[in-house]
Amino acid sequence: MNGDKPTGAVLWAGRLAERPDAEAFAFQSSINIDKRLVFDDIEGSRAHVATLGRQGILDAGTAEALDAELLKIAEEIRSGKLPVDEGSEDVHSFIEGVLTERLGDAGRSVHAGRSRNDQVALDTRLYLKRRVPELQNGIGAVIDTLLDIAERHADSVMPGYTHLQRAQCVTLGFHLCAWSCALRRDRQRFAEALARIDECPLGAGALAGTTLPLDRENTASALGFSRPTLNAMDSVADRDFALELASVCAITQTHLSRFCEDAVLWSSEEFGFVDMAEAWSTGSSIMPQKKNPDFAELIRGKAGRATGNMVTLFTLLKGLPYAYNKDLQEDKEALFDSLDTVETCLRMFRGMMAGASFNTVRMAEAATGGFLEATDAAEYLVRKGLPFRKAHEAAALAVRDCIAAGQNGIACRSLAELRERSPLFDNDVYALFSPAACADARRLPGGTAPEEVRRQIAALRAAKTCG
Ligand code: ARG
Repeated sequence: MNGDKPTGAVLWAGRLAERPDAEAFAFQSSINIDKRLVFDDIEGSRAHVATLGRQGILDAGTAEALDAELLKIAEEIRSGKLPVDEGSEDVHSFIEGVLTERLGDAGRSVHAGRSRNDQVALDTRLYLKRRVPELQNGIGAVIDTLLDIAERHADSVMPGYTHLQRAQCVTLGFHLCAWSCALRRDRQRFAEALARIDECPLGAGALAGTTLPLDRENTASALGFSRPTLNAMDSVADRDFALELASVCAITQTHLSRFCEDAVLWSSEEFGFVDMAEAWSTGSSIMPQKKNPDFAELIRGKAGRATGNMVTLFTLLKGLPYAYNKDLQEDKEALFDSLDTVETCLRMFRGMMAGASFNTVRMAEAATGGFLEATDAAEYLVRKGLPFRKAHEAAALAVRDCIAAGQNGIACRSLAELRERSPLFDNDVYALFSPAACADARRLPGGTAPEEVRRQIAALRAAKTCG
């Protein structure tokens, strides 16, 4: 500590004769993080001033002067004429300080019936009501891009994997619809979280409400909320909106990380399914031949950050006594970082996928020769009346026969050989063994047949408009 005293005004100077020194003051200040709430703070203050005026707590002239000045301040901040003073304690002190500096006692009246505790809860909710729809749109844009690719590749066969072993034939369109379903749920989760945020904390004061006759219903609807919060103490203590949103961000980012892991695998020489655009790849500082999927890897890695922010918030709140405690100031850095991370990663992922080109020849090759038709052979026998366990065994033995004979597909067996495993095999079984036939045979809802994939694409596109 250097002993310097900060010179800016604080809102609580009356009670304390001494001020923290510069380093201690900076330590407890949050302006660097909450300055992004400045326009929300102004909007909230305008609604509060209007209520104070309407309820006769402020005279009409004072309320009007405050409103005009708040508008002017917003304009000046927007144009860069008034920089946010980073020496202020927080964004709320900054705005009240400017009002007081410019309007004197009118500025000193703005905080009647209000506490920074309900103010910060309000500002954060207003900010989230603006910001979360942007993330929802970001998710929608990624889904659009994935579905465009899915449409082009509704017929492109590739292996589907379980245990990272080739399992059954799918199409690329089908795989991308699977990703899109996950993202669609994420968008719904954001919408549901937003619905719970839609209550106005203003009027809660420090924790118990206020003796001044505020009109909370009116303030809430002026600010675009559905209703005021029910309980003042809950209004200032609650941060589960932050927990919920950080969790939804962590889930979304975890989804992106899984998609990116697929993309990293697919772009390896071993798979060779996808070629990332050069603009969405990086090189190596030492190995001249390298073309690395850094974007996919970084998006994958940022899931750690999103999960970390979520854990930060849970840890922050665990055991915190009611109602407001300064610990809560720590909520914003983690929450904002999660929102920023997800929003950026959605944009990066979308660009990367839009620039990717798929090697349908390699994908089809990988879907050939690994006995991916074995389940189809078993189900053929089931359709002929054989109990599934026996059908499974007959198909498995046919696969063993192939391996023993150095053959890479059940189609290599003659009908006589297949009939040694089950007399129910007939000539028509051979038509089922190609990757395209395997994919096309799964026509039930949710299946991977191209026609069904096109139906899923249409359903996902239609769902876009509803949450
Ligand atoms: N900067 C504070 C925060 O972000 C605002 C609320 C401060 N309230 C208080 N009683 N110190 O939480």
